[in-house]
Amino acid sequence: MSEPTIGILGLGAMGSAIATRLRESGYATTVWNRTAAKTEPHVKAGSTAAATVAEAAAQSDILLVVLLDHASVREHLEPVAADLKGKVVVNLTTTTPNEARSTAAWAAEQGLTYLDGAMMAVPEMIGTPASRLLYSGDRDAYDIALPALETLGAADYEGQDAGLASLKDMALLTSMYQMFDGFMQAVAMMRTVGVSAAETAAEVSGWLGAVLPHTEQFAAVIDSGDYSGGQSVDFTRAAVGSLITAAREQGVGADFLEPLMRHLDELSATGRGGADWISVNEQLAIK
Ligand SMILES: NC(=O)c1ccc[n+]([C@@H]2O[C@H](COP(=O)([O-])OP(=O)(O)OC[C@H]3O[C@@H](n4cnc5c(N)ncnc54)[C@H](OP(=O)(O)O)[C@@H]3O)[C@@H](O)[C@H]2O)c1
Repeated sequence: MSEPTIGILGLGAMGSAIATRLRESGYATTVWNRTAAKTEPHVKAGSTAAATVAEAAAQSDILLVVLLDHASVREHLEPVAADLKGKVVVNLTTTTPNEARSTAAWAAEQGLTYLDGAMMAVPEMIGTPASRLLYSGDRDAYDIALPALETLGAADYEGQDAGLASLKDMALLTSMYQMFDGFMQAVAMMRTVGVSAAETAAEVSGWLGAVLPHTEQFAAVIDSGDYSGGQSVDFTRAAVGSLITAAREQGVGADFLEPLMRHLDELSATGRGGADWISVNEQLAIK
């Protein structure tokens, strides 16, 4: 069987890296971008340029959508639903889980073969062992597209619910941003005594590397639902209270820590000060 032809909608940083990788892996590629000039280097390198999304669809067995956001995806796919019939559409654009589900439901109504994806990578990582992409939704679409998708990075199928890849993406990105928040706070505190961000970065990487494995112990407690042991809420309130005071004493805001403190205060005020502070996880459920 001959290799499927691949269309790439969107030649921003990510779409370009993906088109380049697929081309270099031997796939025939057709590229479309809103700003047509961005297709030029790809055409020089061997891709075909499509003037419209419909034209890209006509020339492709598999269509990878790498646009900015959910709105831009729907704006460009909805008018060409008929042209997408019989193709495998893989949407790699970052969306929320519900946006992914909504596009999957729309695709199902149109009789389209649709897979949602999330890229745990930056453009420079595409095609390297550091790149991982998550997929969810139509299993057949995944199986058909897999050989091409695997050229982009490790591929993981999360399940039939089209929102699952995006959900994991958002959860992992949330943990990343909150970790980086912590780094920003540490830098702000150390800069008050003239320590460079570079020095603090080295300290923070070492420290976080040492403590990160504790997430596994925390997870065991959360999965058991038994918050009777461990470091208590009240002990942690005192510790986090000191961090907030220390930041303020240095003339630095403690904005990222204050929400944690509010949850610990609430646990304490409702008679749960003796419980493992990891029970703060339960506070995040919207009541
Ligand atoms: N860059 C990363 O590190 C990274 C990592 C993971 C996931 N992602 C996700 O990958 C997707 C693409 O990111 P990127 O880094 O390639 O972004 P980018 O460099 O800003 O490129 C955005 C692309 O979307 C197109 N676009 C924007 N609005 C549009 C609209 N209304 N209609 C048609 N096309 C539109 C742009 O076209 P024009 O050229 O015409 O402006 C361009 O091709 C995003 O969903 C992003 O969240 C990116």
